[in-house]
Amino acid sequence: MSATTTPVLFSDLGRRAAPPTIARLMTVAIETPELLSLAAGFTDNRTLPAGEVADVARSLAAGSSDPEYLQYGTNQGRQGLRRVLGERLRSTEPAYSAEQLAERMIVTNGSQQALYLAAQVLCNPGDIVLVDRPSYFVFLEVLLGLGIQARSLPTHADGSLDATKLGEMLDAMKARGEADRIRAVYFVSYFSNPSARSLSAQEKAGIADALQRRGLTVPVIEDAAYRDLYFQAPHNAPSVLSMEEWGPFPKLYLSTLTKPFATGLKVGYGVCTHPELLKKLLHVKGHHDFGSANFNQAVLEKVIADGGFERQLKRIRPMYAAKMEALHASLEAAGLERAGWRWNRPDGGLYLWLEAPSDVDTRLDSRFCKECLEAGVVYVPGDLCFGDEAPTHFVRLSFGVLEPNDLAEAGRRFGSVAARFR
Ligand SMILES: Cc1ncc(COP(=O)(O)O)c(C=O)c1O
Repeated sequence: MSATTTPVLFSDLGRRAAPPTIARLMTVAIETPELLSLAAGFTDNRTLPAGEVADVARSLAAGSSDPEYLQYGTNQGRQGLRRVLGERLRSTEPAYSAEQLAERMIVTNGSQQALYLAAQVLCNPGDIVLVDRPSYFVFLEVLLGLGIQARSLPTHADGSLDATKLGEMLDAMKARGEADRIRAVYFVSYFSNPSARSLSAQEKAGIADALQRRGLTVPVIEDAAYRDLYFQAPHNAPSVLSMEEWGPFPKLYLSTLTKPFATGLKVGYGVCTHPELLKKLLHVKGHHDFGSANFNQAVLEKVIADGGFERQLKRIRPMYAAKMEALHASLEAAGLERAGWRWNRPDGGLYLWLEAPSDVDTRLDSRFCKECLEAGVVYVPGDLCFGDEAPTHFVRLSFGVLEPNDLAEAGRRFGSVAARFR
């Protein structure tokens, strides 16, 4: 018998593990160059800061006879990087000193690792995480993979949080004896993936209030991956770190240096206000990898300290705004609105979130999806972005990767298929 056919007994986690949709979509996009991808949330290769990174790498090599940056780093992350991140974050979180922010920080292999760590240390299989609606689909897959249930925070028709319904939902969960299985609440609060919406201070306060009134001061995970990627002006709501309403809650604020600077460096970070939770995250991080890539952190530390991070943001903001406009305009020109589709023009982020007429099924195995692939365009089916009760007529389009001409062509292709489904 060949070794490949020898049966392997998997753990519950191994048995549950399914191919991550994101990896599939990224592979399709990379391996089929003629396909225009509006799917994976990549950044634009033409805007990546190759020159800046090369200069910093050269100056690191030239400036030191002790290349410690090529040595293992620390589990929590480079002190210098945490310090410059703390100083930067302080401008939006004045309730903390830069030192306090740096002390409470954990540097991770992208914020994706921080999400996985949080789910691992907080939840057992069968536990519940409250998530925004729609939510970041890769995190939803993490929850699924760990056997954790996602339960959506209720929304109004315009996508804003419905605090009254949230209260009713929590009461019903209490009555059913489910509430003590709620282990965390998660939301993407700035130019969200996928909806491009930002939560107002009032909406965030509404979530805190509904939970606290019912004694559910569970950890809050605020995912601010796109906070820096505004087009004109930052979104004005404070983060949970600085909101009085979230005072009694353990808080984990997550952000990343991938989307706003270089995805390939894969460095993210979290600020955790709860010492015991931070310790647990660090313990499990130690089991994962005992520290993220030290060289990448050293590069980013210098880039931030030298002002290169802000320069890159200033450069890419108008570029992404122009790309959003190109896609938006081509969808309009393709008559998508006449075909009954609706979407918002975002103020930041990398995504358009489209609602099709309710009878247009956009799921991965749908006729609509197949026809889009035949037409040479790929998207993220919106049903993947719902923790529960997923509608099947939403689509997420990313304008991160393609240049404006290709975005216009991709919009035309998408629109021509949509027109056939009127
Ligand atoms: C909302 C959100 N959170 C977290 C991540 C993870 O990003 P990274 O691991 O590159 O920091 C992403 C990536 O697409 C995202 O969209």
